[in-house]
Amino acid sequence: METSDVQADLKHVLYTKEQIQQRVAELAAEIDKDYEGREVLLVGVLKGAVMIMADLARALRSHLKMDWMAVSSYGSGTQSSGVVRILKDLETDLMGKHVLIVEDIIDSGLTLSWLKTNLISRGPASVEICTLLRKPAAAKVDIDVKYVGYDIPNEFVVGYGLDFAEKYRNLDFVGTLAPHVYE
Ligand code: XMP
Ligand code: MG
Repeated sequence: METSDVQADLKHVLYTKEQIQQRVAELAAEIDKDYEGREVLLVGVLKGAVMIMADLARALRSHLKMDWMAVSSYGSGTQSSGVVRILKDLETDLMGKHVLIVEDIIDSGLTLSWLKTNLISRGPASVEICTLLRKPAAAKVDIDVKYVGYDIPNEFVVGYGLDFAEKYRNLDFVGTLAPHVYE
């Protein structure tokens, strides 16, 4: 069923705009403390990280720069395979930089695991990860995620950068989709 009302496509709200803003501010405070006196390079992973990148960057007090990468994960259907292709690379030389990868969600963790290894090979001083959401499967992968907004159940979520068929990225909250949308 096609509907023009976005709200009607949602089952329930997982995190409200206010909750997300509060959590992002907490993460920013932690990051400011950890990087005290050092400049951070935020690396946003397009397109999902656009919202958290914008809010996190504005909440941070540290000196920072921002750059973007777009990657696509090869795989059958919706499962990530861990074989990653760079669609858009960074413009910044990472040598000696303190890199903080900013993500919307970590599911299997395979994409990020590949990305972290790739960025480390470029000679930065450090590489850490900040994600708004993390699904249980990600916990099984040996990947150290320093900053996590929320650990969520294994449900498909949209909003605040996250899409279903490129829609719902603009929502200022995170929610689950009503079955009529994808069935
Ligand atoms: P990994 O490699 O961690 O891939 O499995 C993570 C990527 O999978 C997408 N993804 C989602 N996108 N709602 C979305 O809109 C979800 O619930 C969801 N779970 C995974 C997303 O592109 C993420 O970067
Ligand atoms: Mg993503």
